[in-house]
Amino acid sequence: MAPTRPYYADKGLSAAFYDTVTAADARLAGDLDIYLRLVPEGGTVLELGVGTGRLAFAMAEQGLYVVGVDIAPAMLAQAAVRQAEVHPEVARRVELKRGDMTAIELKRAFDLVICPYFTLAHMPRGMAWKNTFATAARHLKSGGLAAFHLPLPEIMRLPGPAEPDQPVLDQPAPSGGRLRLYVRERAFRGDVGRLDQVIEYIELDARGEVLRRSAERLTYYHTDPVPLAASAGLTLERQPIPLGGVGEIYVFIKA
Ligand SMILES: C[S@@+](CC[C@H](N)C(=O)[O-])C[C@H]1O[C@@H](n2cnc3c(N)ncnc32)[C@H](O)[C@@H]1O
Repeated sequence: MAPTRPYYADKGLSAAFYDTVTAADARLAGDLDIYLRLVPEGGTVLELGVGTGRLAFAMAEQGLYVVGVDIAPAMLAQAAVRQAEVHPEVARRVELKRGDMTAIELKRAFDLVICPYFTLAHMPRGMAWKNTFATAARHLKSGGLAAFHLPLPEIMRLPGPAEPDQPVLDQPAPSGGRLRLYVRERAFRGDVGRLDQVIEYIELDARGEVLRRSAERLTYYHTDPVPLAASAGLTLERQPIPLGGVGEIYVFIKA
């Protein structure tokens, strides 16, 4: 196996195939509708970790105004392509920015802040989580909501792959070949609440020859978000909303 790179790195395949993989992931089905229900019609949304704009442009299609921040140029580049392809009215309602969600300062307040698909869990628990909650709080109007989608700890604790050579995903690739994903390594360390995985992406051409491959390290951290959010002035607004059997969306309110 090739040396591992971080997830969403330039030239990595997790960024290149992000849309292919998320479109095939039934565990995300319904997340858009959950976020839409948290924001008033025509309202404003800040998305922390906007990625390729999977949700941002879908929200803009519904008439919302979205600012999307991401740290990874490879993901933002794809969001920019999407922006050039959608209807100009929709494109106009989305602003993309490069930045770190633990520290950004936009000097604007939104109706809703979202941090979807385990984005907060990419960060070490502790200061990085606290700082991200502080970012959410200072970009919210009074009474505004912040939604954080986090993985379930019991899923993170599942043992490593019994068959690392069996693909966990085998999908048609946009090139006409196939994309296969393998979980080569998976280990959870309970003392630090950290799941380390090595996911290998292999792109095959139509004849089954390997075109590209990339092994990438995907790390998630777990801790109770409620006290860390409270340190930023965010209180749990309702019971976490289950999503796809692997995660739940915590909704906080700014007083
Ligand atoms: C799982 S993707 C989610 C993308 C999108 N929100 C979605 O739901 O499809 C996580 C994204 O968070 C971004 N990210 C990770 N750490 C970040 C940070 N500190 N600041 C901003 N973005 C970050 C990654 O680059 C990646 O694009």
